Amino acid sequence: MTSRLLWPFLSLLGICLLMAEGWLEKKPPRKLLIRGAALNEGERLLKRRVYYGHDGLYGACQRHHCGRGQQCVISKETGLPECVCVRECKANYLPICGSDGEFYENHCQLHRAACLQREKIYIVNNKECFFQGEGCKLAEYNRLKSMLLDLQSQRYFQQENLTMDAVTHKRHLVESMFKDFDISRNGFVDNSELTQALMQGFLDNDPFDCNLFDLLQYDDYNKDSRLTLEELYTAFQVIQLNLPEDMKVSVTTVTVGLSAVMSCAVQGTLRPPIIWKHNGITLNFLDLEDINDFGDDGSLYITKVTTIHMGNYTCHAFGYEDLFQTHILQVNVPPVIRVYPESQAQEPGVATSLRCHADGIPNPKITWLKNGLDITSTLPNQLALRANGGEIHIKSVRYEDTGAYTCIAKNDAGVDEDISSLFVEDAARKTLANILWREEGLSVGNMFYVFSDDGITVIQPVGCEIQRQIKASDRIFVSFEEICPSVEEQTVPRCIWASAVNIRDKYIYVSQPTLTRILIIDVPSQKVLQAVLTDPVPVKLQYDKSHDQVWVLSWGDVNKSKPTLQVITQASGNGDHHTIHTQPVGKEFDRVDDFFISPTNLIINHIRFGFILHGSNAALHKIDLETVAHIKTISLKNYSCIPDAMAYTHLGGYYFIHCQRNGSSPPQSQLIVDSVTDSVIGYNGKVSGTPYISPDGSYLVSTDDYHGLITVQSLTFRGEITPAFEIATNLRVVDVTFQPSFTEANEYYIYASSSVQTDLLFIELSTGNVKFIKGVKVPIEPKDWWWNGNNRAIVSSGLFGQYLITPSNESLFIVGARQNTLNCEISKITRGNTIVWVEEA
Ligand SMILES: *[C@@H]1O[C@H](CO)[C@@H](O)[C@H](O)[C@H]1NC(C)=O
Ligand SMILES: *[C@@H]1O[C@H](CO)[C@@H](O)[C@H](O)[C@H]1NC(C)=O
Ligand SMILES: *[C@@H]1O[C@H](CO)[C@@H](O)[C@H](O)[C@H]1NC(C)=O
Ligand SMILES: *[C@@H]1O[C@H](CO)[C@@H](O)[C@H](O)[C@H]1NC(C)=O
Ligand SMILES: *[C@@H]1O[C@H](CO)[C@@H](O)[C@H](O)[C@H]1NC(C)=O
Ligand SMILES: *[C@@H]1O[C@H](CO)[C@@H](O)[C@H](O)[C@H]1NC(C)=O
Repeated sequence: MTSRLLWPFLSLLGICLLMAEGWLEKKPPRKLLIRGAALNEGERLLKRRVYYGHDGLYGACQRHHCGRGQQCVISKETGLPECVCVRECKANYLPICGSDGEFYENHCQLHRAACLQREKIYIVNNKECFFQGEGCKLAEYNRLKSMLLDLQSQRYFQQENLTMDAVTHKRHLVESMFKDFDISRNGFVDNSELTQALMQGFLDNDPFDCNLFDLLQYDDYNKDSRLTLEELYTAFQVIQLNLPEDMKVSVTTVTVGLSAVMSCAVQGTLRPPIIWKHNGITLNFLDLEDINDFGDDGSLYITKVTTIHMGNYTCHAFGYEDLFQTHILQVNVPPVIRVYPESQAQEPGVATSLRCHADGIPNPKITWLKNGLDITSTLPNQLALRANGGEIHIKSVRYEDTGAYTCIAKNDAGVDEDISSLFVEDAARKTLANILWREEGLSVGNMFYVFSDDGITVIQPVGCEIQRQIKASDRIFVSFEEICPSVEEQTVPRCIWASAVNIRDKYIYVSQPTLTRILIIDVPSQKVLQAVLTDPVPVKLQYDKSHDQVWVLSWGDVNKSKPTLQVITQASGNGDHHTIHTQPVGKEFDRVDDFFISPTNLIINHIRFGFILHGSNAALHKIDLETVAHIKTISLKNYSCIPDAMAYTHLGGYYFIHCQRNGSSPPQSQLIVDSVTDSVIGYNGKVSGTPYISPDGSYLVSTDDYHGLITVQSLTFRGEITPAFEIATNLRVVDVTFQPSFTEANEYYIYASSSVQTDLLFIELSTGNVKFIKGVKVPIEPKDWWWNGNNRAIVSSGLFGQYLITPSNESLFIVGARQNTLNCEISKITRGNTIVWVEEA
């Protein structure tokens, strides 16, 4: 028999199997590769921000996380941190068995061996490898112990105590057994006491190869030749767990991009492995890219925290779900700001504004300096602060208002600042400032591009003016083809457009479904530059800003019988553009019905994944936008949900899925998919309809025509989806756009358009105030708008926008967002339902 000191482990069969499932899958050591190449949301952010208190995040081993069995060293060649196998382990003696059948003195030795052998070796929770000698074998030893328990039970607990649960019962048995053994009452059971116990008839007719002394052999953990009550508990697997009352809920705050470690405060003798859950989904066996390390003590390690990780994490010991600890993870994001305008020249006496928008978590506080001096606390008379400091309004500018105004946004995670300059000059005097300041109207930016039957109309909303018109008969710059060639029976050429996207305010891509192509419009020169051929009937374009590519969905024919997805790479580049098919052309891309790519925003400027929706398939097909490869399929079968529309918020990382209606039955509630685990976590309460998310991710607006309801929910910085308010309306909403509030920082309004009516709906999301804007005439007949269900678009003009635009069937309406009124109608523009806003170009 081996004389190795034995440290007993649970043979919880369940957990062994589960772990084996999670771990046995052999995979290349992905973790390190991914750390090198991953550009997740937080990381992109880090590259352009500097945090308080940290001078650089890269380079030091301190922040370089290596997997288990590895350590970080600074490479002599590159000077960069890298992971190598641990050189030596501390001499702890906590023996365990490895999945390779080997005996290891401690965890470190096992992980080191795994690293050296480049194999995944996991801990098996039995003692098989300890019992490789002759004599008392594991199975027999276990039988001995259960026999001891039975005997004890017969002695003391003749009648079943029904009020006692099995765990408590066992603990009582072991306690009474210890009392019986410990004749001297000194708290220890030694060899001579065991001899006496044997003589008193404990297992005198021992039928096994094992006997009482094997308890000392195998379960004397500290090898002092005597047993304590704790050791006996351990031997009989009596588990005692506790969680201090004040640790039941614990809040952890981390800055985005850093790592987070959460330890489980559930402690006790023989604690089974710790299980972590997030949104009700068990994390331990998922092999997630960013949460795959549970340390030897069961801590949860998140490699690079982003806002999708915020929310609640619970931990409990396997099999003891009632005793759990909740960790609330808060993720702080340093502010990111934009000012508008960057510079302006004004004549004395006019009114003007300097605006500053800041996003961050928590919401940043805004202050202003003028020429380096604080003006927020002692604001000059003629200046008024609006929108929690997000706007300086000057009623009547004077010469002395000239200056550099610095907007500073600050929160717990950091600070950002930018300058907005104001020059007050007589109109006659031409100064550098006048030249720098391109007045609205003269510049090619801040325009709506409207694509209608008649061609392309560029509209300057401030003056309600048509700034330029590109006619259907005009020609493409490169090929000299007509923009909308006339078909034989038509006397006047007529354009047919479906979808358009803005490429970094440099180009506009717009699809011509009947002409099997996309036109590229150059914004600075306002010319149609080039036509790019696509598969037949291109109906939907989306710009994937993170990878600078345009995704093109084509139907193949008008009956949608051969749909395809194509990609145009280097979309903002200067060269010739062309489409490539999604590769490999797998079955996931075959029956594509729609696709979804979440927009970026100020603080999330990188999106890695998109989704493909199949018209008849209860699943989401996740794709890597960079490699254009299918990654996984998220089944929605259990919910009988064929996805119809979806929206995403980075706050908590939720996708909200609207399912297709089944025949005439009412729409079902939205499903919520958690992007950390790619699992469905349940229904969004009773909320149904098409989901829309505000640009900052903090509001979810759902429009349900069937029930005639608009539901507004907000998402907190703790990843909670808060209860909603509802607005009943028979408006038949087809489009929703968000407009930043003019009175409160980090708040939004929405404008909604109707497929049948002549009203727009306005809702102030923070208060629920509602207003109708009447008189926008009838929309295009739904039957005349084939490409999607949205026969009346409503388009806003960006972060600092003050105007919205919506078409009727024969004209365009401009809405003034500040006053919340109709500004004007631009007539004689037919079916102008494809619209793009272009900012400062
Ligand atoms: C049964 O268990 C309960 C709870 O542990 C205890 O209070 C009670 O005394 C026990 N009864 C007997 C008969 O052992
Ligand atoms: C589309 O479907 C209609 C009706 O089923 C059919 O008449 C027409 O030929 C189809 N068109 C194409 C291009 O397949
Ligand atoms: C669907 O439900 C079945 C039975 O309840 C379950 O075994 C299965 O894991 C579920 N699948 C998913 C993807 O949730
Ligand atoms: C639609 O409803 C029918 C009858 O109620 C049912 O058999 C069918 O499975 C449902 N389809 C889906 C996709 O849920
Ligand atoms: C997170 O846990 C806290 C404390 O138990 C609870 O109040 C809160 O509602 C939980 N949040 C979510 C999103 O479950
Ligand atoms: C637009 O709607 C009006 C009123 O319904 C109708 O008279 C007109 O013919 C429509 N014009 C187009 C181009 O559909």
